[in-house]
Amino acid sequence: MNKKIAVLSGDGVGPEIMAEAIKVLNRIGEKFGHKFNFSEALIGGAAWDKTGNHFPDETKKICENSDAILFGSVGGPVTSAQDKKWLNCEVNSILGIRKHFNFNINLRPAKAYKQLKNSAFLRADIIEKGIDILCVRELSQDIYFGEHKTEEKNGIKIATDIMTYDEKCIEAVAHTAFQAAQKRKKKVHSVDKANVLDCSKLWRETVTKVSKKYPDCELVHILVDNCAMQVIRRPYDFDVLLMPNMFGDIISDETSIFAGSLGMLPSASLNSKGFGLYEPSAGSAPDIAGKGIANPIGQILSAAMMLKYSFGLNEEHDEIARAIEKSFEQGFMTADAVQEGAKSISTSQMGDKIVNNIKI
Ligand code: IPM
Ligand code: MN
Repeated sequence: MNKKIAVLSGDGVGPEIMAEAIKVLNRIGEKFGHKFNFSEALIGGAAWDKTGNHFPDETKKICENSDAILFGSVGGPVTSAQDKKWLNCEVNSILGIRKHFNFNINLRPAKAYKQLKNSAFLRADIIEKGIDILCVRELSQDIYFGEHKTEEKNGIKIATDIMTYDEKCIEAVAHTAFQAAQKRKKKVHSVDKANVLDCSKLWRETVTKVSKKYPDCELVHILVDNCAMQVIRRPYDFDVLLMPNMFGDIISDETSIFAGSLGMLPSASLNSKGFGLYEPSAGSAPDIAGKGIANPIGQILSAAMMLKYSFGLNEEHDEIARAIEKSFEQGFMTADAVQEGAKSISTSQMGDKIVNNIKI
């Protein structure tokens, strides 16, 4: 297989963890006889420095001419958020690219690794029960893409953000969630705030309607506040979490607790044509950038998701997942999730261990 991949490393730890993902992809290419052609493009603060734009046209073109996008991370230090370079950087880059390609589905798998049970934040006996959750987050509507404004009335500033959902959009993401559940444990928890919001009432009604087409799957409606608690209390009871954009943003970060570090979570953003962008859920972590200690696993697993969802290379995806777990078994981990008493290794050493566990 011959594929063109747009590589948008971005800011902070982005370039460091991207280098490891590319190493792993090249190894997979070598093992399975694929050729991955990488085209680098600028995004975020890195793009601002060269073009004065966070998401330049040149980058759009490179992405449009590729088979998939591999995305690192964007954004600068919180203390510099008001500098021109960083002002609205995430919104312009991340929301800009989601809007440009109409990405409406965001998949964020989160699991607990038995090999890491001593580094996780959860009790080992909860991890032992098996935690494997797929967050299916709607990505194109909600309060993110409604009108945002700040005005002043009688000397008082008033900010407004409008939340909107249409039923077609809810239907699409609901189908994705049920189809994913059919290949898993056949259980969908649909998250909303239907006791207050109209958007959530429509969400619940539409998801219930879609569920009738999937009689083999169980549907449970859960209010987002209760979900935030239950998902930590009894994570082993959840399979697919179907969520609107904003609740999905929040709850999916919460699920990183199971793996032990936000740096381990991958994600896929897909549109209705099946085109995809793959990025770790974690941010650019400017405080640790350049130190060689960032966890590359979220980026490597994102590359693995690209193989599976964009190229249909399931075996290659599973090979990467196996190599990662093998590296954990051998006791290797970066500092953010290292087991008690074990020694942490650097970003590039972690990448090397994973590469070495993909036997040719
Ligand atoms: C994410 C991020 C983005 C979001 C931000 C940076 C716009 O938090 O991908 O989860 O809220 O979707
Ligand atoms: Mn987020």
